[in-house]
Amino acid sequence: MLLRDGSAPSDQTRGSDAAPADAGKAGARGAVRAVLAGVGAYLPARVVTNAALAETVDTTDAWIVERTGIRQRHLAGPEETASFMATRAAAAALAHAGAGAAEVDAIIVATSTPDEAFPATAVRVQAALGVTRGFAFDIAAACSGFVYALATADAFIRTGAARGVLVIGSEVYSRILNWQDRTTCVLFGDGAGAVFLRAGDAHGAGILSTHLHADGRHGDILHVDGAVGRRDRPGHLMMKGQEVFRQAVTKLAAAVDEALAANGLTHADVDWLVPHQANRRIIDAMGKRLGLPAERVVLTVDRHANTSAASIPLALAEAVGDGRIKRGDLVLMEALGGGLTWGSALVRY
Ligand code: ACO
Repeated sequence: MLLRDGSAPSDQTRGSDAAPADAGKAGARGAVRAVLAGVGAYLPARVVTNAALAETVDTTDAWIVERTGIRQRHLAGPEETASFMATRAAAAALAHAGAGAAEVDAIIVATSTPDEAFPATAVRVQAALGVTRGFAFDIAAACSGFVYALATADAFIRTGAARGVLVIGSEVYSRILNWQDRTTCVLFGDGAGAVFLRAGDAHGAGILSTHLHADGRHGDILHVDGAVGRRDRPGHLMMKGQEVFRQAVTKLAAAVDEALAANGLTHADVDWLVPHQANRRIIDAMGKRLGLPAERVVLTVDRHANTSAASIPLALAEAVGDGRIKRGDLVLMEALGGGLTWGSALVRY
C-alpha cells in the first residue's frame, strides 16, 4: 500500500501490506537510509537562574554548577504543554527541511510528560500541524526517549513503511518535579526539539545504526512515583542520583563503543558528540573517552539543564543552526534515562 498516494487509506494499517510505490527504485527492503533533512527547537521564554532557585529551595549556584554544570533552565508557562512545544519545534524542523505537511507519513513524540493520558501527544501535534494522513504515537523512555524514537523512525523508513517521519522530544518536567526537593528540582528544564527524517540513498548521509537497551531491574533508581492511572499518587520524579551516575558512565561508554564497532569505525572518526544533557561531568567523561576536544562535544546543559527526551534534538538543532555541525559530519548521540533505558545512534549528517 502506498504512503504518499493521496488516497488516504486507513492510516493505522498502512505500511505492513506492501512497499511504497518507489521502494523498487531504492532497491530491496533496507536499501534506504533515514536522512536528517531538518532540525528545529522550541524553548519557553521564561529563564530561571540557579540564583533565583536558591531563593525558594536550600541550594546555591556554586553547588549546582560544580556538580552538574547547570547555570539556568527554561520553564514552561501554563499554555506551554508538551504538544504546544512539540508543534513549534516540529514546524521549525519541517521549514528547515523545506518540507510540507503532505510529506509527513508519521509523527513520533518522545515524552514522559504528555498533555493527556490519551490521545497521544503526537496526534495533537499532527492536528496542530495540519497533517491529515499517516500515523502518530508517543514513546515513553524517559531521557532515552529521543534515541528510542529515532531508532523506531529509522526502522519504519528502512522497511519502507514511511518515507518522511517527524521525530520529536518534548518535555515539561517542571510539572512532575517536587519543587521542595533540592536533590531533583535543580536538575531539569522544559523544552522541545525535533528532526524531520526523509528516506534517502542507502549509501549517502543518514542514520547508520541505532542501539537500544533497557534493564528494568534498575527501575526504582529513577522514576516518577505516580501517574494519571494512580488516583492516590499524582507523581513526582524520584532519583538516586549517585547510582544513576554510576550506571550512566559505564552503560553509555559501552553504547558508544557498540555503535562504532557496528559500523567498523573508531573514536577518531567521530566529528561530534551530541549527548543527552543530564550532567556536565558525565558528558565530559564521554568526550574524554572518545578523545574528542571539548569544542567537538555539543553542550547545552549549562543553559537548558536536563530536558530529558528533548535534550538531544535541542542540542542538535543548536549546533546545526549555528553552523558547527555540517553536512557529511559523523555525529554520535547517546542517552540514558529512567527504566533504566539507554542507547546510541550514529548519524552521518
Ligand atoms: N544544593 C545543595 N546541596 C545539595 C543539593 C542541592 N541542590 N542536592 C543535594 N545536595 C546535597 C546532598 O543532600 C548531600 O548532602 P550530605 O552530604 O549532607 O548528605 C550532598 O549535596 C551530596 O549529594 P550527592 O547526591 O552525593 O551529590 P552528587 O555529587 O552525587 O550529585 C547529582 C548529585 C548531580 C544528582 C549527580 O548524582 C548526578 O548527576 N546523577 C546523574 C543524573 C542523571 O544522569 N540522570 C539521568 C537522566 S534523568 C532521567 O532519565 C529523567
